[in-house]
Amino acid sequence: MSCVSKTCIGKRSHLRNGTGLRFELENRPSNDATESGFVIAFQGRVYAYENRCPHLGVELDWAPGVFFDAAQEYLMCSTHGARFEPDSGKCVSGPCAGQSLSALVVFEEEGELFT
Ligand code: FES
Repeated sequence: MSCVSKTCIGKRSHLRNGTGLRFELENRPSNDATESGFVIAFQGRVYAYENRCPHLGVELDWAPGVFFDAAQEYLMCSTHGARFEPDSGKCVSGPCAGQSLSALVVFEEEGELFT
């Protein structure tokens, strides 16, 4: 029998299209320095990724929870401006073009988001 633990991120109703929410990652392998993840709403769906740019491994957000570019079309790294497709995490421009963000499983139960 397996046991799956889940972490509550927040209420789905607080996540509007073009917005994001950071959360701390728990139970990471000791050799993984990634400390946070983020969830976004885009075109009515939610997606979650590790908060780590494939270029230099830094966090992406401009300010806590701010991941989108001004047009709210792409996720954008605040360090060198790489742009990522919100629904796939694929980098479409910038120094890590062709690489991708690491996706996390996110799901909704009774209006709450979990990973
Ligand atoms: S660290 Fe993100 S684009 Fe360079």
